[in-house]
Amino acid sequence: MSLLDKHAIFEKNTSLLFLGSLLVVSIGGIVEIAPLFYLENTIEKVEGMRPYSPLELAGRDIYVREGCYVCHSQMIRPFRDEVERYGHYSLAAESMFDHPFQWGSKRTGPDLARVGDRYSNEWHVQHLTEPRDVVPESVMPSYSFLKQTPLKVDAAGHLKANRTVGVPYTDAMIENAQADLLAQANPDADTTDLLARYPKAKTGDFDGDPTQLTEMDALIAYLQMLGTLVDFSTYDDATGYR
Ligand code: HEC
Repeated sequence: MSLLDKHAIFEKNTSLLFLGSLLVVSIGGIVEIAPLFYLENTIEKVEGMRPYSPLELAGRDIYVREGCYVCHSQMIRPFRDEVERYGHYSLAAESMFDHPFQWGSKRTGPDLARVGDRYSNEWHVQHLTEPRDVVPESVMPSYSFLKQTPLKVDAAGHLKANRTVGVPYTDAMIENAQADLLAQANPDADTTDLLARYPKAKTGDFDGDPTQLTEMDALIAYLQMLGTLVDFSTYDDATGYR
């Protein structure tokens, strides 16, 4: 019996044919996917990336809770039109501490991966309170209630949960989580320790009302840091460093 005739066994038995096909297809899949779990450079390390500060993390939670991702992506693709509009295309490392990631597949509004520093805090307050006050044709909903809602969050627990899934929060970061959360939005606070733990964190009053810490403070602290950690004037596409 020649080798070709043996193939008849598969042709006459659909279950065996199915199993055989599965085996062949999975070899291809494993060859492509398995190395990604072991390669050091699957997510290259990029200078400047750090875990979110407690206030930014709280803001990020509000972003997810309010479904901002339904209309906004956070992933600039390496196409000329996107890079010219939004800035350097997104690096994998820039979402390495995101649980869950916010890449998104739909843009009703613009990509927000590099919205940090693009507008003033006042602009964000006005825009989130009533988007049509600053962009008349906007279809974005109003989130004015955020400014009236005091921020309630278990900062240390939040950091611990993220550490469980792999974000490298240190014991000192968890111990000081609540203090850091308050210090970041308090214009009179000493932020030396906060900035040592979370370099480049934006500090001060975010929502225009220094008397209370609101969800608006947290959300704007988050928006203002998006895309600002990696310094692209010194970033080299080939190595990640220059
Ligand atoms: C129904 C879709 C929709 C939702 C939900 C939505 N947005 Fe928007 N957003 C838009 C649109 C459209 C624009 C562009 C017009 C404008 O600036 O208002 C926009 C613009 C923005 C901008 C300005 C971006 C730029 O580069 O000019 C920011 C910042 C923003 N949104 C933040 C948020 C946040 C934070 C949330 C959640 C609290 C949110 N959006 C929810 C549709 C949405």
